[in-house]
Amino acid sequence: MNKNFKDLVFSGVQPTGNLHLGNYLGAIKNFVELQKKTDCIYSIVDLHAITVFQDPKELKNSIFETLSSFIACGLDFKKSIIFNQSSVSGHAELAWIFNCVSRLGWLNRMTQFKEKAGSNKENASVGLYVYPNLMAADILLYKATHVPVGDDQKQHLELCRDIANKFNNDFNKSNFFPIPEPLIQKKFSRVMSLRDGKKKMSKSEESDYSRINLQDSEDQIEKKIKKAKTDSSLITSDKKDLEKRPEALNLLNIYSSITNTSLEKTLKEMEGKDFSKFKKNLSDVLIATICPIGKKIKELNKDKSLLLNILRNGAEKAKIIADKNLKEIKEIVGFI
Ligand code: TYM
Repeated sequence: MNKNFKDLVFSGVQPTGNLHLGNYLGAIKNFVELQKKTDCIYSIVDLHAITVFQDPKELKNSIFETLSSFIACGLDFKKSIIFNQSSVSGHAELAWIFNCVSRLGWLNRMTQFKEKAGSNKENASVGLYVYPNLMAADILLYKATHVPVGDDQKQHLELCRDIANKFNNDFNKSNFFPIPEPLIQKKFSRVMSLRDGKKKMSKSEESDYSRINLQDSEDQIEKKIKKAKTDSSLITSDKKDLEKRPEALNLLNIYSSITNTSLEKTLKEMEGKDFSKFKKNLSDVLIATICPIGKKIKELNKDKSLLLNILRNGAEKAKIIADKNLKEIKEIVGFI
């Protein structure tokens, strides 16, 4: 697969408020593993963030905070390229070209647009609608071959593959863009809300009790896990039974993911316990992993000149690859 291309990982995270456990377990933890073995580019995707109105001051803060979170979680800016999307103009330029390659019918199928636009579709920004084309541009601007994401981004990656294929076919350049592979965690790719096991954990859910934020205090984590919805049955090792208990399954999956064990092993360890006992174990392991990250985020976030330097250096490196590829793309399209 992708024999014509050197392995290159690309992924992005939106700077819209606090990052949470879903971002960490679904994506960033994997970013850290990948940087040990492959060249990686990680972007704070501020152009994506403004598809929904952002207060400019808060957006700036969120960009810094997302960068601090990346580093606190273990991303190494000396090894990987880390930068904010708007500082490399090639993303917006290629997105326009892809607006002309992508089809209305493809975008009309995007479930995330339907969810985010809600019932008032007419009032959603055009940017929110064409957002998956920009996401394809992010990836293909670098000819990235692998994209680590949570399960909720799967459909957008399929669209990216369709765009890459159509561009290669339309311009008769069969191997110009790689067809990128999604890297989605096999065991647990969708961390669910602590209030509703059928909804994903998300920044946009109103209740803060629905998620664990990376900057939550020990007290907050303990309270949120205590309040997390479960049921009165004991923990069983019967996976079929757990499938009918989504909140219980979610907490057990979170425990397994945080402790790097399989769900089977966790079920064996916890079998016969009631949830109040298990929740104590769960908040202990969460506090041990998340609180040191949270403390580091707060510390890093104070040093704005260091953060600015990291972003500038990252953007310079990203730009070298982006400019070279964009030159070729413009040539292929027929621009002078
Ligand atoms: P964003 O900012 O919503 O989320 C960042 C990453 O976190 C993952 N994630 C989750 N994983 C598991 N369970 C959850 N509850 C959960 N919530 C979030 C997301 O899947 C994502 O991997 N469109 C993207 C950003 C983006 C991008 C890209 C990603 C822009 N360009 C190019 C990859 C490649 C987004 O909004 O992610």
